[in-house]
Amino acid sequence: MSFDREADLSELLSGEGLESLGKSLAGLLGEDYALVSSKGEWLLGRAGEGRKSISIRLELEPLGHLEASCDEARLRGAAGLVTALLKEARRYHMASELHLEAVHADYEALQEKHHSLLKSEEKYRKLAAELDLRVKEQVRTIETAQRQLYQAEKLASVGQLAAGVAHEINNPLGFVRSNLATAGSYLKDLKGLSGLEGASVSSYWKANGLDFVLEDFAQLLEESVTGVDRVARIVSNLKDFSSVDGSGKKSVDLCENLRSVGELVSGQAGGRIEFEYDLSPLPPFSCFPGHINQMLLNILMNAVQSIEGGGRIRIFSRFESGEILIGIADDGCGIPDEAISRVFDPFYTTRVVGSGTGLGLTVSRDIATAHGGSIGIESAPGRGTEVRIRFPAGGGK
Ligand SMILES: Nc1ncnc2c1ncn2[C@@H]1O[C@H](COP(=O)(O)OP(=O)(O)OP(=O)(O)O)[C@@H](O)[C@H]1O
Ligand SMILES: [Mg+2]
Repeated sequence: MSFDREADLSELLSGEGLESLGKSLAGLLGEDYALVSSKGEWLLGRAGEGRKSISIRLELEPLGHLEASCDEARLRGAAGLVTALLKEARRYHMASELHLEAVHADYEALQEKHHSLLKSEEKYRKLAAELDLRVKEQVRTIETAQRQLYQAEKLASVGQLAAGVAHEINNPLGFVRSNLATAGSYLKDLKGLSGLEGASVSSYWKANGLDFVLEDFAQLLEESVTGVDRVARIVSNLKDFSSVDGSGKKSVDLCENLRSVGELVSGQAGGRIEFEYDLSPLPPFSCFPGHINQMLLNILMNAVQSIEGGGRIRIFSRFESGEILIGIADDGCGIPDEAISRVFDPFYTTRVVGSGTGLGLTVSRDIATAHGGSIGIESAPGRGTEVRIRFPAGGGK
């Protein structure tokens, strides 16, 4: 829109204004007249011949002419009327153009503002997304570092396990020691036989109750062998567990891992929990045994911690449809429905502050996944929990 351009006659006179002007002119000039624009457009009246004509100007600019067959004075008067009307119309026209121009300018300014707002919004959105990404990355890095730290710490904390194991070993050691002392005294009794002959042998035999001594000797030897076997077994379990050496992959029988970690943990539970082994043979499994043991320990410790007082833990294995399944089920407190989806989340724990990291299951899942497997948990609050781990036969990637 150009503000400088002058409006022509047809722009200034149109619609109702033009119609009522037509009526006034017909009244003044009769029917034989015409109003024609400088471009030759017939605006009012009709064509005729032999008419007088008068130019219509506005501020010296010719806009058209009025012609009629009436006398000149009337024609002049009529032209004056048209000019006056045109002046008004132009003023109105200019004002409205000015108004439009102003509105348009406002609109353009608004549009510009809108654009720059859009631009800065886009910029902030990008920035926010970048920031979000960076924060997420940082959180991931921290979480990974924490998990690694946890794993290193837990693997190194065989010492902690060993404290419980030492206690467990002390008991058989105690009775083997006392049995050995008794055996020493029995041996002394038996030594008294040397050099005796004839009737004195039988009277010594009776007096020292050697029948009982021999019987008890055999019994305490047998008991001691059992005790020593138990110690050997505990030590071997601990050795299995800590033969972590972390580095190499090994082919193992997961049933053995289940049994040895199970026995280690059952020793820690101090007899209040009954451990049931329901192990079906499994094909050899190639894995990092230290990590697998860590995973089993985490799950078994959770099971033990879920049982207050007496209870039962079932450790089972199956080989079905080309898949290894191992599981640990407890009859402990169970997990409320609203919490079950969170137990694998890093740092989710319901233990009293300081006693759990909330990483036990997170790391267990990491370990299962790293071996190409998966881990699932099902729980009935108040009745118990079952954790199942599945691996492809043969071992992970
Ligand atoms: N067998 C289970 N019975 C009941 N609740 C369980 C069992 N296993 C896990 N949970 C719940 O899941 C939470 C998370 O377990 P997770 O092993 O990851 O961490 P944690 O045991 O709290 O800590 P940490 O393992 O470091 O000692 C536990 O705090 C507990 O509330
Ligand atoms: Mg735990």
